[in-house]
Amino acid sequence: MKKFIENLPKAELHLHIEGSFEPELMFKIAQRNQISIPYKSVEEIEEAYKFNCLQDFLDIYYQGAGVLTTEQDFYDLTYSYLQKCAQQNVRHTEIMFDPQTHTERGIAFETVINGISKACEDAEENLKVSSLLIMSYLRHLSEKEAFKTLEQSLPFKDKIAAVGLDSSEKGNPPSKFKNVYEASVKEGYIPVAHAGEEGPAQYVWEALDILGIKRIDHGNNALDDETLVNEIIKRDIALTVCPLSNTALQVIDDLHNHPLKKMMDLGLKVTVNSDDPAYFGGQVNKNYIEIQQALNLSKAELYQLAKNSFQYSLLNDTKKQQYLTELEVYYNTNK
Ligand code: ADE
Ligand code: ZN
Repeated sequence: MKKFIENLPKAELHLHIEGSFEPELMFKIAQRNQISIPYKSVEEIEEAYKFNCLQDFLDIYYQGAGVLTTEQDFYDLTYSYLQKCAQQNVRHTEIMFDPQTHTERGIAFETVINGISKACEDAEENLKVSSLLIMSYLRHLSEKEAFKTLEQSLPFKDKIAAVGLDSSEKGNPPSKFKNVYEASVKEGYIPVAHAGEEGPAQYVWEALDILGIKRIDHGNNALDDETLVNEIIKRDIALTVCPLSNTALQVIDDLHNHPLKKMMDLGLKVTVNSDDPAYFGGQVNKNYIEIQQALNLSKAELYQLAKNSFQYSLLNDTKKQQYLTELEVYYNTNK
């Protein structure tokens, strides 16, 4: 099973680039920029990565991202993640980035987007990993600030496929961002959003009906509302599920109790993703391996998960079909 998963062609659809920031690289970049971080060793960092909830994690995550300063920093961060994609047979990835985490510190939007997108171009060429970018608005900030970010992004529109919504969910419902989503869609961005990770099923309804999202990041709490589940199925909207994130943030107490298989059995389109791999103990393949073991998933189910990852990506139909064919050939020779 482990080998089958490692070699399985797949896409990752839920990944925060700032959450891929491994301690070793963080130390290197902090030193390069002469910024001090409150840890002396990798061991101390790992000790700090014990979270009780989403907010616990976010506080540490924003602090880590605070050492990213130059275009080269954003390039190195992104290229390092894309190298891990290549090693894991991740053939395509949709990368979220949080411009406000950086622009709030005085880093230019241009610095962030140029570093990230240059790494994506190089990886497509050198590593044969394709990627699309999702610009995420921080939901703990105001809609007015999200509008400012939308404005800043417009000169770089050709580099960005979609808009997302992340950060502290509770108390920051999707409806708070109704107008900026409407404006983002008018600019050609595809809308997605985190919903139902810590927030209630009601937030998933709002993300669907008010923001018009095409994909739900997490969505676990949608299971509390049967009508909602049926609506998600009817609209053919996928959930980007992140098993190790869910246990790290105590959204789920134990992987054995993870609802991923139940979601699949209900007919929901589910994908497996790492979310913030440097903080939650594993890249995407580790997420597949651990959830397979915990829920005793079959090869057919793993194939379905990988198939969903391409099917519900934001790629055009031609590209999707190329990857789906590659996956099908793999499955038929390895099942
Ligand atoms: N930002 C990075 N990871 C996140 C998560 N799991 N939920 C909300 N915002 C995030
Ligand atoms: Zn996330």
